[in-house]
Amino acid sequence: MALSCYYIRFMPPAKTKNGVVAVLGYGSQGKAIAANLRDSGYEVVIGLKSRSRSRVRAKRDGFRRIYTAREATRLASYVCIALPDHLHGRIYKQDIEKNLNPGSTLIFLHGFSVHFGFVAPPKNCDVIMIAPLAPGLAVREKYLSDRSLSAFWAVHQDYTGRSSRTTHALAAAMGFKRNRLVKTSFADEAVGDLFGEQAVLCGGLSELILSGFEVLVERGLPAENAYLEVAYQLDLIISLIKQYGIEGMFERISVTARYGSALAGKKIIDRSVKKRMGLLYEEIRAGKFARKLNRLTPQDIQALRKLVKERTSRPFEKAAKKYSK
Ligand SMILES: NC(=O)c1ccc[n+]([C@@H]2O[C@H](COP(=O)([O-])OP(=O)(O)OC[C@H]3O[C@@H](n4cnc5c(N)ncnc54)[C@H](OP(=O)(O)O)[C@@H]3O)[C@@H](O)[C@H]2O)c1
Repeated sequence: MALSCYYIRFMPPAKTKNGVVAVLGYGSQGKAIAANLRDSGYEVVIGLKSRSRSRVRAKRDGFRRIYTAREATRLASYVCIALPDHLHGRIYKQDIEKNLNPGSTLIFLHGFSVHFGFVAPPKNCDVIMIAPLAPGLAVREKYLSDRSLSAFWAVHQDYTGRSSRTTHALAAAMGFKRNRLVKTSFADEAVGDLFGEQAVLCGGLSELILSGFEVLVERGLPAENAYLEVAYQLDLIISLIKQYGIEGMFERISVTARYGSALAGKKIIDRSVKKRMGLLYEEIRAGKFARKLNRLTPQDIQALRKLVKERTSRPFEKAAKKYSK
């Protein structure tokens, strides 16, 4: 350990075309972004806890320069925070703040910790955001195929006067084409992303699906049939919406489906839902959710896993697994 610290302190940053990027964290996004940046010509060093389980995966993926977050930060001109949001504040204070090189760039993948004030970067660095609109697996897959994924970008602090250019260069190297980048602010991305995932994409949608599933099963349909009716075709409907809009989707389903859905939709998702969504938005905007998330402990995360398991049902999960291929 002592030897590796000595080595790092006196080893000059590697000479590469683009500079050294420290990717801190090697989870969903870290793994994808580290691989994409490396394939785009950046020298990538990984920052992880000395006993992190992610070290094995990073090594298996061919990364040789794996350090602690502190050591990796010292080596880099760009520091990408691919860490769980609720830990940003603590890890930033402990490992990053004192080791950041002046003039370096802090890259966030979500506006959360900066916008809600858990991380307060020093004045002498650029602070940018490149927030992928997809899980890490897709970020890597799309980099290797058609690079058709979108991402939000924003500059929070422009110390060097070059941060927009830096953001575009890094985003391109991560696999996001210029015409797929959407300019925003840390504030809008932080609040919008939390609201979108909680109210619609993950929270709202899973409750909608499970409620439909339960209604059918409680009235005697086999669980497998119920799954096929309320969940199995979702990706096809979503892809119609993404391609043609909601109006276009309605035009492409049967008259039966169109007539029934147009009448029933508003009965199920009525005005009270929108009102509760508004309240949820206000809680998120005011930082109430952020403060709660920031206090999460490993025990809370375990309890959360149990809660999710209790809410869903084994027959649903079994059917999902059966039809997943
Ligand atoms: N996941 C997504 O779909 C998605 C999409 C867009 C943006 N983002 C953003 O991307 C960022 C990363 O999220 P993620 O979902 O990729 O995270 P994640 O999958 O939970 O991965 C977290 C990584 O951080 C490591 N880590 C934990 N504590 C650490 C410490 N003290 N020092 C160094 N490394 C540590 C973990 O290693 P261990 O193995 O040791 O636990 C793991 O490799 C977040 O800001 C998130 O909002 C995520």
